[in-house]
Parts: sequence; C-alpha cells; structure tokens
Amino acid sequence: MQTHSTITALRSALAPWREPGKRIALVPTMGNLHDGHLALVDRAAHHADCVVVSIFVNPIQFGPGEDFLSYPRTLEEDSLKLAEAGVCLLFAPPVEEMYPAGATCQTQVEVPGLSDILCGASRPGHFRGVATVVSKLFNIVQPHTAVFGEKDYQQLMVIRRMVADLCVPVEIVGAPTTREPDGLAMSSRNRYLDADARARAPTLYRTLGEVAERLRSGRRDYAALESEALRTLEATGFRPDYLSIRRSADLEPPIGGDEALVILAAAHLGGARLIDNLQVTLQTA
Ligand code: PAF
Repeated sequence: MQTHSTITALRSALAPWREPGKRIALVPTMGNLHDGHLALVDRAAHHADCVVVSIFVNPIQFGPGEDFLSYPRTLEEDSLKLAEAGVCLLFAPPVEEMYPAGATCQTQVEVPGLSDILCGASRPGHFRGVATVVSKLFNIVQPHTAVFGEKDYQQLMVIRRMVADLCVPVEIVGAPTTREPDGLAMSSRNRYLDADARARAPTLYRTLGEVAERLRSGRRDYAALESEALRTLEATGFRPDYLSIRRSADLEPPIGGDEALVILAAAHLGGARLIDNLQVTLQTA
C-alpha cells in the first residue's frame, strides 16, 4: 500500500489505474479505524480494482466546543490495518493541503433542507463541512464508486442528494452498520464512553428496535412512539438530541400509508454523542 499526503502525489499514483476497464473506489474516513471501517473497505473492494482510503479529520465539519482537537488520531495503526485489508492507496493529507487558503476562505457545498434537520439542527454547519470535504475528495480521487456507512444515515442522504444535484459521476454505495455483539453501533467515538456509560450504551439500539416492533404491530401514532422512546433513553441516563421516525427515502416526517421508514436517534451519554438508526419496512393492508 502506498501512502500519500499531497494531492499531486496521489494523482500521480492513481494515473495507472485510469485505464479503460479499471475501477477505483474511495472510502472517505476520519481514521481511528475499527471493524466498521474495514467492512466499508471490503465492500469497496467488490466494486473496484483499486481501493483508496482517505484519512482526514476535517475541521470544518466540527462545531465550536466539539471534539476536533481531541478526535483520536491513530495513523500508524490505521495504516497497518489498511495494508492488511489490501487497500491500494492511503491518502492522509494535512489540513493545509486540503484548505491551503484557510478553512474560512474555502468554497462551501451546501445541501439545503436535508442539512438543517435532525443532526443538522443539533450541529449547525456540520453537513456543509461534510459535503464540502467529500466534494473535494471526489475531485481529488475521481473514483467510480464511493462507500459510506449507513450508521451515518443522514450523511449518506446528504451525499446522495449532493451527487444527484451536482451531476457528480460517482456511484454512492451504502454499507450496513457494523455492531458490537451487544448491538452498539461501532464508532470511533465509543472510546469516549467510560465503563458505566458503555454498559448503558446498547439501550440506544434496543430502543430503536422497540419502536420498530411497535410500528410493525400496527401503531402509527408517531409522536407518542417518539416520546415513549425518548423517556426510555432519559431513564437510562442519555441526554437525547432527538429520536425521530422519518421516511427512509427523504427523511420527511411520515404520513399515513408510508411503508419505508427509518428511526433515527442522537443522544449524549457520558462523554460521547452517539447516533444510530434502524430502517423498517411496514406492510400496509
Ligand atoms: O463519516 C465520516 O467519517 C466523515 O464525516 C467523512 C465522510 C469522512 C467526511 O469527513
């Protein structure tokens, strides 16, 4: 595996892969890789001859008071894992390479509407930062395919919308969430949980499952279902930002006969902000 930290070097290394018939896939990450990331790499390998992974802790998607400075940076361990997983190229640029004129002078990519709800309401500007860095990575790597985790369901929707609106010729593949044996979604931020919070954390996914069960049993009183679930989370020590039942296609609130739904939640627990979601397909009579 080759590692490059500049755009010029990465582009030169990618040149031999631009032949007709050869495919390049990109897995954008912020590093501190766990099995969930490696599952994305594995998925990417099914779509391409050369898998490129980027590791970049993107300052412009963190809000004031968030964990940009303390976000775990483990490039050496990450690099070993990626080499073992058969990754072709690792792109790990410093901030100055991605934002040479400074983050505030950077042209920004805004996906209106979708970026302002749910996590976008709790983290204003977050999805603008994500859409901007992902656009840059797409232009730098010019992959045929890019793989993103469904754990960040709203992020995946924002990127799909961006690619459709801007006619970006990249196929977006969503990969299922990788979970710990007790159901907790794998995340680099799980390391912020102390032992007590870690023991409570699986309640988030369990609660999403309970809402899904109640929907399957015929309940459609969405607001009441959300309130019950929020009470369960609060009783376990979570400080929820939201728990919301939405249409999986566009994240709009469901109306009567909608069948394809997703239950999304974000909640603080100890020192971590956890997010998770569960898709549910209902049968209407
Ligand atoms: O999901 C992430 O790790 C980040 O938001 C991403 C897509 C790499 C952009 O910085």
